[in-house]
Amino acid sequence: MHCVRKITEDLYWVGGNDRRLELFENMFPLQKGVSYNSYLLLDEKTVLFDTVDAAIGKQFLENVSAVLDGRTLDYLVVNHMEPDHCSLIEDLHLRYPDMKIIGNIKTFPLIEQFYGMNLDDKKILVKEGETFSCGKHTLHFVMAPMVHWPEAMMTYDEYDKVLFSADAFGTFGALDGTIFNDEVDFDRDFLDEARCYYTNIVGKYGIQVQNVLKKAATIDIQIICPLHGPIWRNNLEYLLEKYQIWSKYETETTGVMIAYASMYGNTENMVNVLSMMLAEAGIKNIKIHNISKTHVSELISDSFKYSHLVLAAPTYNNNLYPLMANYIEDMKALSVQNRTVAVIGNGSWAPQSAKLMEAKLSELKNITLLTDNFAVKSALHTEQMDLLQELCDKIVASINEVNA
Ligand code: FEO
Repeated sequence: MHCVRKITEDLYWVGGNDRRLELFENMFPLQKGVSYNSYLLLDEKTVLFDTVDAAIGKQFLENVSAVLDGRTLDYLVVNHMEPDHCSLIEDLHLRYPDMKIIGNIKTFPLIEQFYGMNLDDKKILVKEGETFSCGKHTLHFVMAPMVHWPEAMMTYDEYDKVLFSADAFGTFGALDGTIFNDEVDFDRDFLDEARCYYTNIVGKYGIQVQNVLKKAATIDIQIICPLHGPIWRNNLEYLLEKYQIWSKYETETTGVMIAYASMYGNTENMVNVLSMMLAEAGIKNIKIHNISKTHVSELISDSFKYSHLVLAAPTYNNNLYPLMANYIEDMKALSVQNRTVAVIGNGSWAPQSAKLMEAKLSELKNITLLTDNFAVKSALHTEQMDLLQELCDKIVASINEVNA
């Protein structure tokens, strides 16, 4: 049975949810599933904005057919060519052979690469700022290169003031019937998902996101229709502010995220003692992650969120504990920057990890290091408690500076 919702007089959500997928992109654990949003506009012409992932293809085709209610599909706008949104192009082409596809110069080679489709006279090539009339609705095309693929673009419907924003402003998390932001408790149910999605999928492309935000600021947008997660129809400033913070790599929460690796509990003990010291000193926002049990995507998300990071890990094979090395590599790949970081090492005969972590962190942009080879041998001992308290005091002083 079809499963759709009306957004405006002429616009329908015809997407679907996948609550069975374990790993998005076969990499990111999904705690709450994911939605693939697609939108169908009924005007003098019928226009579909993007398709969905193959996993929900049957539901999607049923949805499109139900909303069309006997009409044919005239146009498909392809805002993004990643397969979680374009997997049904070929099926639509077969069902609606007269359908024309609207895309930009980078869209069509990707359609050819993925699906071997020769579209010939079915292509409509659009450029930045061009418009297309479907009747009473006029569409404007806004290029969004590298947010987060080269062909990404957004489409603005001037009549309803709707921005079809591709991956931008999307979140992980399935939609439970409540598809609009004002029908959900976004802070409670979606903010962590949104941050995790943004930072891991788009996080590297802060400059490109900034460019799109500047373009968006010149348009009167009343509704944002992203390809994942809730549709925004009020309080857009909230979402835009989050995107400003994340894309500028600014701090979202003043506090401390501690990420530790510990083979036998001694490094863990050290960060537990440090966290108590921080709490005693009045720091409230403290989050501890055991990196062996926390997916790196969550560590990245919290690295974007918190102002201060503490990284603690043992030496392993005369090198850095591999999971910690991987986490810092991912921080670099996703452009984590502008953070204040303390590093704690451990090692039983040749402690290397503190120096190795510091060297890796020096490859990130604008990192303020509060430590210089702070290392213990095997476990924290009484004579080092003063040094740990000193480190705590430094973190607190730095947080107070941020708060001042
Ligand atoms: Fe949701 Fe870049 O695809």
